[in-house]
Amino acid sequence: MLKSVAAQVNFFFMTHNIKILAIESSCDETAAAVIGEKDDCPVVLSSIISSQIDLHAKTGGVVPEVASRAHMEAITPVVVESLTSSGDVQSAIKALDGITHIAVTAGPGLIGSLLVGFNAAKTIAYAKNLPIVPINHIEGHIYSAFSREISNSKFLISKQRDDRKLSINENWKLKNEKLFPVIALTVSGGHTSLTLMKDHGVYENIGETLDDAVGEAYDKTAKLLGLGYPGGPAISKLAAQFRNKFSIFNPPAGGQFSNNREKPIVLPRPIINDGTFNFSFSGLKTAVLILTKKMIAEQKLADVSELDEMTKAEIAAAFEAAVADVLVTKSVRAIEKYQPKSFIFAGGVSVNQYLQDSLKFKVKSLKQKQDIEFLTPAAGLYGDNAAMIGLAAFYHIKRNDVSDWNSIQVDANLELV
Ligand code: KG4
Ligand code: ZN
Repeated sequence: MLKSVAAQVNFFFMTHNIKILAIESSCDETAAAVIGEKDDCPVVLSSIISSQIDLHAKTGGVVPEVASRAHMEAITPVVVESLTSSGDVQSAIKALDGITHIAVTAGPGLIGSLLVGFNAAKTIAYAKNLPIVPINHIEGHIYSAFSREISNSKFLISKQRDDRKLSINENWKLKNEKLFPVIALTVSGGHTSLTLMKDHGVYENIGETLDDAVGEAYDKTAKLLGLGYPGGPAISKLAAQFRNKFSIFNPPAGGQFSNNREKPIVLPRPIINDGTFNFSFSGLKTAVLILTKKMIAEQKLADVSELDEMTKAEIAAAFEAAVADVLVTKSVRAIEKYQPKSFIFAGGVSVNQYLQDSLKFKVKSLKQKQDIEFLTPAAGLYGDNAAMIGLAAFYHIKRNDVSDWNSIQVDANLELV
């Protein structure tokens, strides 16, 4: 399924400096984007994402071999469409003449998936004799939040086929300098990490998950509750229904409020108080497994599909409250230690409104020396996309940190340093 989030190319105010063709294929989205430059700031000109969600829904998760094959099918049309909204190959080849740099995700991710985008990018760089910028996928997610400006200044890109706004504010560069140091919490299906970013390109990994990523925990818990794939949207919808029904933001710590149970469901917050910035989510999923098994046995049900909807919703809400509590606690600890000027919440899971609200509320209420800027990605840039790879590459190019097609490596376990 080709999910087009192409921006209308607006050459009118382009200064024709940097123009990057960016490619991303680290997991289950094949994506390409074109990033231009205006007044020293990056501008998202197009962003095309071909999603494999429908394919992987059948198996309840990503099958790497299936993902690589789907990338092979999608990569050429996706790149072509990012270069020309007509989707015509000849026009795309012409549009390539205006490209100054290629950017590509070099890892981390599924090796079979990464290789498809990586080889496409290398081939174009070779054929067109262009410099190439290998980008860490996590760095890309962090830069997806640099695409959102908080003030009301005008958007450089306003027309898109699905009306999403991929915005870069004109004052972005000026604002940029005031953003560092940054603490970035990146949460996706494959990653959960806290990063201290002192400047563009200067990273320190201060914490990560010891087992499951947050998105993985959502997906596995959804599977246990008999919900579809991906689990994040399914769990968050159910949890919101429960919170709305009982008018609660957080499931309360005590009191009877559902299904005649004397005590509400409270799930564990693994390693919340261990003093580190690391995370652990596999125990949370196991707690849901034990709980549902017990309920099924007590109520003499055949399986989880017979569990009543409100009980499932309560489990989903309790799960989400536990995740929020852990993310908030660890983030606050990092903010108190590193005193950042801004906090970034990015990655596929960060689209979750409850998690965003929980973090924003806490971060904004912290008594720090100065107000902390709370940044999330622009709409359309939460999940995997290539615009974020191009945005990160833009700043590499500004630092003259570019490579030749034959000197770059792909690395499924690439670390952000
Ligand atoms: O960043 P992403 O698209 O891919 C990876 O790099 O992994 O993140 C995908 C993850 C999936 O685990 C999915 O369940 C989760 O993001 N997700 C959500 C929501 N929407 C997607 N998790 C929680 N709440 C959501 N609304
Ligand atoms: Zn991702």
